[in-house]
Amino acid sequence: MVRRDLLTKTQGLSSKTQYPIPKTQNLRPKTLLVTGGAGFIGSNFIHHIITEHSDWEIVNLDKLTYAGNLENLQDTENNPRYRFIKGDIADRKLVGALFSGEYFAANSLTPNTQDLRPNIVVNFAAESHVDRSILDASPFIETNIKGTQVLLEAARTHWLGSKTQDPTSNTQDLRPNIFLQVSTDEVYGSTEKGKFTEESPLSPNSPYSASKAAADFLCHAYWKTYQLPVIITRCSNNLGPFQFPEKLIPLAITNALENKPIPIYGDGLNVRDWIYVLDHCRALDFTLQKGKPGEIYNIAANEERTNLELIHRLLDVMDKPQSLIKFVADRPGHDRRYALDASKISRELGWQPNYSFEEALTATVDWYLNNESWWRKIKRGDYAKYYARMYSHR
Ligand code: NAD
Ligand code: DAU
Repeated sequence: MVRRDLLTKTQGLSSKTQYPIPKTQNLRPKTLLVTGGAGFIGSNFIHHIITEHSDWEIVNLDKLTYAGNLENLQDTENNPRYRFIKGDIADRKLVGALFSGEYFAANSLTPNTQDLRPNIVVNFAAESHVDRSILDASPFIETNIKGTQVLLEAARTHWLGSKTQDPTSNTQDLRPNIFLQVSTDEVYGSTEKGKFTEESPLSPNSPYSASKAAADFLCHAYWKTYQLPVIITRCSNNLGPFQFPEKLIPLAITNALENKPIPIYGDGLNVRDWIYVLDHCRALDFTLQKGKPGEIYNIAANEERTNLELIHRLLDVMDKPQSLIKFVADRPGHDRRYALDASKISRELGWQPNYSFEEALTATVDWYLNNESWWRKIKRGDYAKYYARMYSHR
């Protein structure tokens, strides 16, 4: 049932990652500060970049919260183009020392006087789970808002210095620096009809999405005020390898493998638009190479499903009974439908998703089947307490 050709057993990187990506000419080597690289999308992105760009350096700054897991990067940890630093994006001193290069010198991380000061930031670091933001919004404010501002300010100080950029000047002059803010479709809020474009007003409904929207506004402000070359991407719901099993799909797959009930909030008719994580990573790569500073790009694969449709199909793929579905009390403020118009990134940057929903779903199921020790270890830890708190009285 599950297509083995889509993934390699250990890391889940598919042969479909071998595709032509346009190479930008005449730029100095890229040194990426990837924040939150030990999480779900960040670790997939690091695998992608290491595979696709033999001359790019990566510094991964991650606080290793409950969602950060260095096992996601086991095959990368000894790569000479990759360094891991445990730290908080809201730590002004640390972030400043990374941008100035002092950190690398002080920690002997720069053999051959290699310059590891970032010229690109890809900011994945975030508290990312809506349900946790409903329990306690504080860490979302700290990381998603304050942390983003600390990164923006360090980039401004070290990339622009005391220069005030002329807003009418050719933005190409600001390259090769790019501050890529990885945002989400949730900032637009919920809509029953139509699709959100990059021009749609922001209307976030959860503490999580409000904190991401605040970060987007800060990014926009740093572009408008200082001409810091910021690009914002807003992607729909991802699925794929290494997703922490608090999110619907890995929670459902792992519960089904354990023959445990799958909790569906409310009537199960909320709609999400799903994209395979490797397609998201490729879209970010296109954006780094061809995106324009000051622009926003929606990213989606046009694969809308109600939660119920999704779980019915998942149980079919897994050959598990539909009776595992258990309706539970709804999420407070639950957004009914997310839907993105992603025509801009396809028109302007030439990106298209490579994976259909069916391929993404089978590939994801396959990964969790083949990486049981990864998710079982997580489920034995603090996760069990979280799960009881979230679901036992629901
Ligand atoms: P995740 O929760 O799996 O990973 C978040 C990572 O950030 C973890 O490794 C964590 O340790 C790290 N982190 C948290 N706080 C930090 C801090 N203060 N300093 C440094 N590191 C910190 O999240 P994800 O699903 O991979 O999402 C990554 C980004 O993509 C987030 O910004 C999220 O808003 C955005 N996004 C996610 C989705 C999705 O479907 N998962 C869709 C669109 C956008
Ligand atoms: O849309 C992008 C966003 O997708 C990202 O910005 C977020 O970081 C990411 O967490 C995700 O948010 P959602 O709230 O859409 O994802 P989640 O997997 O938590 O829920 C998906 C849908 O499934 C949603 O309608 C709520 C529902 N759900 C979720 C869980 C965890 C259930 O019915 N039962 C569950 O147990």
